[in-house]
Amino acid sequence: MQEFVDPALGPVRLFLVHDDNKPRKLKYNLGHRRVLTFGGAYSNHIRALAEAGRERGIETIGVIRGEEHLPLNPSLAYAAACGMTLTYLDRAAYRLKHTPEMRARLRERWGDDVAILPEGGSNAAAVRGMAELPGEIGGDYDVICCPVGTGGTLAGISAGLAEGRRALGFAVLKGAGFLADEVARLQREAYGRTWHNWSIDLEHHFGGYARTTPELRRFAAVHRVEEIYVAKMLAGIIDLAGRGEFAPGTRIVAVVTGQPSTPVAE
Ligand SMILES: Cc1ncc(COP(=O)(O)O)c(C=O)c1O
Repeated sequence: MQEFVDPALGPVRLFLVHDDNKPRKLKYNLGHRRVLTFGGAYSNHIRALAEAGRERGIETIGVIRGEEHLPLNPSLAYAAACGMTLTYLDRAAYRLKHTPEMRARLRERWGDDVAILPEGGSNAAAVRGMAELPGEIGGDYDVICCPVGTGGTLAGISAGLAEGRRALGFAVLKGAGFLADEVARLQREAYGRTWHNWSIDLEHHFGGYARTTPELRRFAAVHRVEEIYVAKMLAGIIDLAGRGEFAPGTRIVAVVTGQPSTPVAE
């Protein structure tokens, strides 16, 4: 663990653990011949599935929101180069992606045996993959923090946490109150129960998904951290610490789930 030193933390100690959540979320989702998922044109999850498909010899299909734009952006060009088949849904159809009717259409086109992963890859198998992370972190800490997009990362970290520790997620979307139900639903789907060791901070979205502010930009540049997820979490931790929300002496681990060079804007 690498310590993150900032005077604004006051009597709280913050440590960074660099751990990409995408491969963990995919780990138990890859036991299929053909896997399909959904995402925006810059989706990290689409790229991660394409890469895993290439490595494991799995056929992958990316259903992309919106129209096709040629030439492909670097994110989709990379997915295509990994062998992913790209297909597009207009925004109205994309909103219906998780309905039974759309599922039936997709199965008709891509075969009955296609495994369909939700947008962002958060499902029961993803939660089980993420739950392995806390056990791999050595060192003493009280609170573990992660960014929250679709909730699978937080659901798994909470499930894998040792007694007495708690997990705090930072929502990167605005108006993300629904995520609490979603995290609980994912835990139930994965383990048939929920945990009460987690909470979600809804105050540090900096305007919403892929939105930013000049201060956050500066913060991300100075600390060389990925801006859409990681910077919001770290700025959120520092803000809460400055407001005395953590007891003096609290040891916090922040999971750095992405790198600055990763194109993540939707
Ligand atoms: C870098 C990064 N961090 C965190 C998350 C959030 O994970 P989740 O959707 O499981 O909440 C994502 C989601 O894609 C991500 O790309």
